[in-house]
Amino acid sequence: MAEIYNVDKIRAEFPALDRQVHGRPLVYLDNTATSQTPQRVLDAIRDMYVLHKANVHRGVHTLSQEATDMQERTRRHVAKYINARSEKEVIFTRGATESINLVASSFGALLPEDGEIILTVMEHHANIVPWQLLCKRKPGLKIRVVDINERGELDLDQYRALFNGHTVMAAFAHVSNVLGTINPVEEMTRIAHSHGVPVLIDGAQASPHLKLDMERLECDFYVFSSHKMYGPAGIGVLYGREELLERMPPYQGGGEMIGHVSFEGTTYADLPFKFEAGTPDFVGIAAFDEALNFLESTGLEAIERHEESLLQMATDGLKEVVPQVRIFGESRHKSAVLSFLIGNEHPYDFGMLLDGLGIAVRTGHHCAQPLMERLGIPGTVRASFAAYNTEAEVRAFLQAVERVAAMLG
Ligand SMILES: Cc1ncc(COP(=O)(O)O)c(C=O)c1O
Repeated sequence: MAEIYNVDKIRAEFPALDRQVHGRPLVYLDNTATSQTPQRVLDAIRDMYVLHKANVHRGVHTLSQEATDMQERTRRHVAKYINARSEKEVIFTRGATESINLVASSFGALLPEDGEIILTVMEHHANIVPWQLLCKRKPGLKIRVVDINERGELDLDQYRALFNGHTVMAAFAHVSNVLGTINPVEEMTRIAHSHGVPVLIDGAQASPHLKLDMERLECDFYVFSSHKMYGPAGIGVLYGREELLERMPPYQGGGEMIGHVSFEGTTYADLPFKFEAGTPDFVGIAAFDEALNFLESTGLEAIERHEESLLQMATDGLKEVVPQVRIFGESRHKSAVLSFLIGNEHPYDFGMLLDGLGIAVRTGHHCAQPLMERLGIPGTVRASFAAYNTEAEVRAFLQAVERVAAMLG
C-alpha cells in the first residue's frame, strides 16, 4: 500500500512556512519563482561554513579535502538523480540561465554560421535571449518559433514541419513556467534527432516536480536550478552529453578549468572542470545534496500526485468562486502552476491585495514576454504549488481571491 503523504511532517522541515505576513499566516504560492528551503539544507550550509570551509580542489589539507569531497558527492548525486551516464556530464553553474548561456555560447561556437534555431513561444527569457545573442554573433542564424493551441499545448505538427535542412538546434522548456504545460519532450527530442538536430531542454520547472532520466530523454543538454528544488540559490546544473562537452570550447577562463597555463598557451582541464572556471559556490553545491535527499525521501511521484490534487482543487475552486476567471494553460499534461486573470484587473493590484491577506503569488509577465504578447495580455496572476502546500492553503487562497475580486468589483 502507498504510504500516506504526510504534509504536516514535510511542512515541519520548512521554518519559513511558520512565518506571518501582515499579521496572517503565510500561504506561500510562489514556488515556480523559488521554493522554500528545508532545515536540513540550512543545516548543511551552516555546517559547511562552521566546519569545512576551504577552497575546493586546491589543498592537501583536511578541510580542503572535506570541502572537495562534499562538492563532488553532490555531483555524483546529481548524476544519479538525473540518470546521467557519468558525473563528467554534470557541470555546476550559477543557475539554469547560466547553463543555457554556456551552451549557446560554447556549443553555439560549433554551430554553422547559417541556419535555424527552433524555440517555442512559451519559453522563459532565459531560453530566448542567449540564442538571440548567438544570432548577433552569427547573423546567418535565425530563430523559428513554435506556437501553442488554445489549451496552451505546443503545436507539434508545426514543430515537426519547422525542421528542414537548415535547422541547427532546437531548445524548449520541459514545463512552462506560466502555463504549466508539460511538453512531450521525449517525442520532441526524437523528432529533432531524426533530422540530426541537437536538443537543449530547459528543465527549470520540471526538476522540482518530475522524475528525470537523461538516458530515456536522450537530449543533448538539460538545465535546471537548485533554488527551485528546495536547494540553495546560486547553483545550477548543466547536463551535457560527454562527447559534445568534450568538443566544446571553454565558456570562461580562469582557475580550476586549466590543465597548464603559460603565456605561450594554455591547456584545459578534463570534464567537468573545463567548464567550471574560478571558485564555485562549493557551500551551496554541498548543501544541494540535502535538497536532493529531501526530494528523494519525499518521493517525486508522491510529490507530483500531491501537487496535482492541489492544482485540481485550486482550478475547480477558482472557476466556482469567480466564474468570470480566465485561466491560461489548461493542458492535458500540466504541472502545478495556475495562471489567471479576473476581469480587467491588473495582475499587480490583485497580487498586492492578496499579499495583504498573507497569500504570496507572483504577478506580471513571468519573464515570458513573447508568450504574454501571444496571449494578448500584460501578465497574469500566478499561484504555484509545492510539496509542502496544503488543501487548507488552497482554501485560504480561494477565499482571498473571492474577497479581492469583490473588492476590485
Ligand atoms: C522555465 C524557466 N527557465 C529558466 C528559468 C531561469 O532560472 P534561473 O533564474 O534560476 O536561472 C526559469 C526561472 O523562473 C524558468 O521558469
